[in-house]
Amino acid sequence: MSDLFCTSSPEITKSYSRESSYIILHGDANESLKDIPSESIQLIVSSPPYNIGKEYEKGIVLKEYLESMTPVLEGMVRILSQEGSICWQVGNYVDNGEIVPLDICFYPIFKSLGLKMRNRIIWHFDHGLHASKRFSGRYETICWFTKSDSYVFNLDPVRVPSKYPGKTHFKGEKRGLPSGNPLGKNPSDFWKTVEQDWDRLIWEIPNVKANHPEKTIHPCQFPIELVQRCILALSNENDFVLDPFGGAGTIMIAAMMHKRKAIICEKEEKYIEITMQRINDYSNGRLKIRPLGKPVYSPSGKEKVSQIPILWSDEKEKITK
Ligand SMILES: C[S@@+](CC[C@H](N)C(=O)[O-])C[C@H]1O[C@@H](n2cnc3c(N)ncnc32)[C@H](O)[C@@H]1O
Repeated sequence: MSDLFCTSSPEITKSYSRESSYIILHGDANESLKDIPSESIQLIVSSPPYNIGKEYEKGIVLKEYLESMTPVLEGMVRILSQEGSICWQVGNYVDNGEIVPLDICFYPIFKSLGLKMRNRIIWHFDHGLHASKRFSGRYETICWFTKSDSYVFNLDPVRVPSKYPGKTHFKGEKRGLPSGNPLGKNPSDFWKTVEQDWDRLIWEIPNVKANHPEKTIHPCQFPIELVQRCILALSNENDFVLDPFGGAGTIMIAAMMHKRKAIICEKEEKYIEITMQRINDYSNGRLKIRPLGKPVYSPSGKEKVSQIPILWSDEKEKITK
């Protein structure tokens, strides 16, 4: 792995230093966070292991899982600046067909550490496993917490165009004048997968699955767009952002794109290698990034896969009789 740290710009260091802009800490997050000074990080965006048997985790009972995560959360809160934020992205823990939404479990822990929740964002996507004994899960959540009441929140860089920009005040001094904001509207706490995103009305971020341009071998990496949005709204240029469960290094790429500094912790060497590869590709203009605002593909209905198979006509008749 050490060879990968010798690549050209940008310089990546493998131990914490206040002077470094990009730091990758290989090892257990709980230990790595101990090297980072208190209140030095503006934003943490992370998706922890969900304890659902992914290749990088051992499934353990929920109580043990939460207990094992608590020291990491404590470390995160210690290093978070007073104006800082944590975006904690989780889905469901599944136990023998019963689901436990993990945000419900994590909320009291964050609350007991003094954090304040500002939004529980629904991240909706249109793809995933088709369940047979419950409705198919098509959303996860991002819980946004702040350390204090005085926190960074830059709405303007993440505004989306209003649906009705021509709306006007209907009474008072401003009667007849536009009632909206020329920069667009607040993107809301529902990050919806429908048709268009970012600069095309609706804020939509597909999840990174097989045919997404950003896909690596990592089983559950963030879409860069999702992290970009958090970074633009909740940090300023030159701030440090961090992901204690760094995976394929998405937060570092997004930080580079928006002039932030970044730290990631990751226990698996193979994911650090992917991160380094992505950083090199990004620096050389070769990283495939789904552009902000690119419409999500919606079938025209003419494609073969959009057609109802002829074989199904009998089946349908049987069901509707
Ligand atoms: C859900 S993935 C994060 C993906 C990441 N957000 C991205 O965009 O690529 C969780 C990652 O945490 C790593 N991980 C799990 N337990 C860890 C620990 N105790 N310390 C450091 N990394 C850990 C896993 O190897 C995995 O890559």
